[in-house]
Order: sequence, then structure tokens, then C-alpha cells
Amino acid sequence: MAFESTRLQMHVVPAAEWGAAAARILEAELLLRPAALIGLPTGNTPQPFYAELRRLHGEGKLAAGQFRVLMVDDYLGAGQLATNSYHWLSREVLRPLGIGDGRVLRMPTDPAQMPVACAEFERQLQQWGGCDLMFLGLGPNGHVAFNEPGSGASSRTRVVRLNEATARANAAYWRGAFMPHEAVTLGLGTILESRAICLLVRGAAKSEVLRAALLEPETPDLPASVLRRARRLIVLADTAAAPDADIFPHA
Ligand code: GLP
Repeated sequence: MAFESTRLQMHVVPAAEWGAAAARILEAELLLRPAALIGLPTGNTPQPFYAELRRLHGEGKLAAGQFRVLMVDDYLGAGQLATNSYHWLSREVLRPLGIGDGRVLRMPTDPAQMPVACAEFERQLQQWGGCDLMFLGLGPNGHVAFNEPGSGASSRTRVVRLNEATARANAAYWRGAFMPHEAVTLGLGTILESRAICLLVRGAAKSEVLRAALLEPETPDLPASVLRRARRLIVLADTAAAPDADIFPHA
């Protein structure tokens, strides 16, 4: 099922097809702009997407030779930790696809360099031409990147404190290792400047927060709700995350 308006496209696909559908969205962008700047999130959600990219690349079917990658968040002070978002992304996507450091706009994580490094990161993002397509996950509390509830729609790249629920949810990824409770994230204002945003959502646990983000009035309590202001928003959900596809507005 798909509905489209000029600014919002919604795709709901069976779970087994979800990774390939996400890869097609990236491929369509690379067909237009081979050197596009693409935002890539970490987390459980994008795993089938990244697995599909590795498969396509392995078979020589992905035009991955030029595109550049923008990180959307990382943990503060995690530069040396093997569990940080940069290392995770390197392992899952960057190395397998042959994307070297020169093509990655890496989120700064050194506490001693803050907040100057965040302003410098924003400057570099402009210099790199801005983000063409930003993939984002959806936090259980509606956060996007690490913009927790309460984040302003015009916020910029900055240091944030993770709230309890997020820290608890993310601790699982660190498997008992020390996890910083502060992070660095693209701001919602920075995210909204992207030429297109693709919100990735999988699983029944995200269905209520997805429904609220798209249908309830926009509120800072649900950061994902501001994504409706995007220049172009693509939502890619599996049928578990959007079981009542008909409730979403049609063009
Ligand atoms: C994390 C990350 C986000 C991610 C989100 C959803 O805290 N900071 O970038 O998109 O939460 O994670 P998951 O896909 O594992 O549910």
C-alpha cells in the first residue's frame, strides 16, 4: 500500500520486503545524484536495509562508488569506545561498501571540543552541500536521531542528555559495557533542512508512536511529529508498524 502527496509519501510493505524497499529508495536517489550526501542512522531498525545494501554491493549491483555519508548522532566521549555509533556504522555499512573516511561527515564526540565542534560540524555540512536524503529511525518515545522529547523544531547540532527510557533501551546495544548518557545529535532544524527525509519504522512496538507522529498535532513532546514540516518526507513502514494503513491521510 502506498499513498503520496507532494511532500509525504507513505510506503507500507511486508516485513520480508522492507529491507529491499529501503535500498530502492537509496538507489533512486543515487541514480539522480551519485555523489549524494546520505544520512544513515544506527539501531536495530535499519539492519535489513544495510544487509540488503551489503548484498547488492557484493553482487556489484549498487552504485556505491561516490555517495557520501552523514552521521546523525553518536555518544559523547565515545571516540575511543568500540561500541560507539561510528564504529557500528563502519562495521555495518561503511567498510562493507568501501566508503572511506574522506566520504563520511563524522559526528564529533570529544567533550573537550564542545560546543565549538558542533558549530564546525554544521559549517562542514553546509560546505558539503547539505544533506540530500536523510534516513532516520524512530525512537520508542518519538525521538529522532537523539532529539529527545522537548527538543525545539529549530534546534541545531548539540550535546544532549539521554532520558531514562532511551538510556534503558539503548543499554541493550552496549551489552553491559559503559554507555555514556550524553550524546551529540543533529538538531531538528538541521534535519529539516535536508532535501528529503526517509523515516524507517519496523515492528508493532513502533505502531502507536508512528501513528501519533503522523496524525496527532505537532508537539515538541513527540520530536518525530515535526518531520511533517520536511521538504519531502518518505515513511517506510512494515505492516506491523502500520497495521491500519487506511487511517493515514491520502493525497
Ligand atoms: C536510538 C538512536 C536513533 C535510532 C533510534 C531507534 O537511540 N539514537 O538514531 O534511530 O534510537 O532505534 P531502534 O531502531 O534500535 O529502535
